[in-house]
Amino acid sequence: MRKKVSIIGAGNVGSTAAHWIVAKELADVVLIDVVEGVPQGKALDLSQALPIEKSDVKVSGSNDYAASAHSDIVVITAGIPRKPGMSRDDLLHTNFKIMSDVVQKVVAQSPESILIIVSNPLDAMAQAAYRLSGFNRERVIGMAGVLDSGRFRSFIAAELNVSVDNVNSFVLGGHGDTMVPLIRYSTVAGIPLSELLPPERIEAIVQRTRDGGAEIVKHLKTGSAYYAPSAAAVEMVEAILKDKKKILPCAAYLQGEYGIDGYYIGVPCKLGVDGLEKILEIKLTPEEDAALKKSAAAVKELCDVIGV
Ligand code: NAI
Ligand code: 2OP
Repeated sequence: MRKKVSIIGAGNVGSTAAHWIVAKELADVVLIDVVEGVPQGKALDLSQALPIEKSDVKVSGSNDYAASAHSDIVVITAGIPRKPGMSRDDLLHTNFKIMSDVVQKVVAQSPESILIIVSNPLDAMAQAAYRLSGFNRERVIGMAGVLDSGRFRSFIAAELNVSVDNVNSFVLGGHGDTMVPLIRYSTVAGIPLSELLPPERIEAIVQRTRDGGAEIVKHLKTGSAYYAPSAAAVEMVEAILKDKKKILPCAAYLQGEYGIDGYYIGVPCKLGVDGLEKILEIKLTPEEDAALKKSAAAVKELCDVIGV
């Protein structure tokens, strides 16, 4: 039987994630949204692309969570995106309310599912979903690091005029101004980045990565990025559905790893059929460690405000 992925929030990120899943023929997709007609219309449109794309999956849309029953994975993108001048943190109260509503409905329909959280502020929303769902940490994972690393990698590839496929890098920490791009672990065809670019160029790329979301919001004015975010969420979906044991930077609930206890933060995770199968603890320099702790403190501050 084909796997089933439900996507809550049929807006920009949600519907584009559905597009990638269908194009990769990964699973049947159900789009759920509060707005009547939107998930239905987008699902119908996507399903008419299937013969053209030669993809044998089913796509449907609904306002009723019953349609999402027995999902293997549920991707939660419901929430408001930021507008120019807003930070991700400005979305906290509105999106926490939405997350509270969504999670209890998702859990009632798909108690065995794995949740991938996308809504912002990401780390706090992942923590909220973890607490609200009652699932173990293996089944509630936040998407941010794959996106932030994707941005970092795209900027490096453009700077060096090399294939994006040659660039490997990791961005850890929270999805915000305190994110931690790990330069020491960034390579181009196996060559350390520091041997290919001067420190000031690397620093400029790191800063552009930190501001990557805001740069796009400034262009779009009425919403935030969605192609790369949805592709990033679908890379996680694929790793789980295909049991790839793929190591990706994801927001995970830490229980003492990296000296952090009781909070979601971006760390290298192995994703497979059981969801989060392992957190990899890599050696950090004192500066990197301090940056990760600073990031965790920022997440804690938000979690304290909403009491999760
Ligand atoms: P959008 O506005 O295009 O879509 C959000 C959708 O959620 C809308 O269709 C809306 O009707 C729906 N929604 C609102 N309340 C709902 C509820 N109670 N139940 C079901 N659906 C509900 O926004 P977009 O661009 O898709 O972004 C979605 C969220 O993802 C935002 O919070 C955004 O900040 C976040 N995001 C996170 C990223 C990350 O790296 N973690 C990257 C990009 C976006
Ligand atoms: C981004 O980084 C809005 O979090 C989203 O583009």
